[in-house]
Parts: sequence; structure tokens; C-alpha cells
Amino acid sequence: METWDAIRSRRDVRAFAERPLADADLDRILEAGRRSPSSRNWQPWDFVVVTDREQLAELATVWQGAGHVAGSAATVAIVAPIVEEARRQTEFFDLGQAAISMMFAAADLGIGSGHSAVGDHDLARRILGLPEDRICAHLVPLGYPAERPLAPLSRPDRRPFDEVVPRGRW
Ligand SMILES: Cc1cc2nc3c(=O)[nH]c(=O)nc-3n(C[C@H](O)[C@H](O)[C@H](O)COP(=O)(O)O)c2cc1C
Repeated sequence: METWDAIRSRRDVRAFAERPLADADLDRILEAGRRSPSSRNWQPWDFVVVTDREQLAELATVWQGAGHVAGSAATVAIVAPIVEEARRQTEFFDLGQAAISMMFAAADLGIGSGHSAVGDHDLARRILGLPEDRICAHLVPLGYPAERPLAPLSRPDRRPFDEVVPRGRW
């Protein structure tokens, strides 16, 4: 897929096909995350990859909006150090960039992705075996869409372009 097509095709997918992901495709998605930019090249992320069906089902319980993790072919847990308030905003921006890099790389391969937040951080830490100084900040479930394959959306559910883009002044 061309970059522009990948950008227009990505949407949050919450129902995944049984089809597994090729190792090389999963590695490419993770490599996209690894290559993401970060403030002062801090790279505050680690990506724990979960493919075991039982572990995915457990991970799906860390948040009320994480149910779709259970049916994913793989879920990337974006893990970060617990930092003081002053650095938190920078860290979350960096993690968000890593997340979208992986999601676009996935879309480029026709693979769907669907963010999930984490509600119960202690539970996520136990399931993933994280040390006390790390937190699972986001989950990125991945898999081929169960229904419509990814294709450029002509009318995305977004605010109108002219409303979002003032020119020169607000
Ligand atoms: C920071 C963040 C957290 C999100 N958390 C969840 C979540 O916990 N569960 C979920 O189903 N979707 C979650 N989403 C997905 C959003 O609901 C989704 O991106 C938005 O509705 C737009 O969807 P679309 O790109 O398919 O149009 C999250 C998105 C972001 C950016």
C-alpha cells in the first residue's frame, strides 16, 4: 500500500479474523515503533508482544474497553517507565507516536489495529511480568479485520476539514 492509502485506510478494528500474522509482518510493525521519533531521542518504550490465546484473554480484562484484545492475533503492550509528573506529558506524546507508527505500518500490510487503554495497571503488570518501575501505558491489538478488509475511507468520521484547519489565525 502507498503511505497515503495506509493513512486513509487505518481505522480502529475491534473484530479480528482467526488468521495469524506472519512473523516478518509482526516484526516490521514493531520495527516501525522502534524507529519512532521521541523527545531528545529518549525512546521511553518497550513493546511486549503477546500472541498466546489465554494470555490475550487475560489481557482483555485490564480495561472495560479492552475486550477486543482477546480476539487479536497479537497485541503489543506499550510499556514505559514510571516518571515524575514533569516528564509524563513528553512520555505520553512519545508513546502515542510509537503507537501510530505501528498502526500505520500495520495498515500498510492490510493488518487492522485498535487502541486500548489500560484501567487496572497492577493487573496488567502481573499479566505481563513487568517490574514495579514500569507501566503498561497502552495496548495495540493487531489482526486481519474479521469483516471489511482495510481500504481507503472516502468519508471518515471526522470533524470537517475547514473547521479543523484555520489558516494563519484561529
Ligand atoms: C489514547 C486512546 C485510547 C483509546 N482507548 C480505547 C479503548 O480503550 N477501547 C477502544 O475500543 N478504543 C479505544 N480507542 C480508540 C478510539 O475510540 C478511536 O481511535 C476513535 O473512536 C476513532 O476511531 P476510528 O479511527 O476508527 O475512526 C482509543 C484511542 C486513543 C487515541
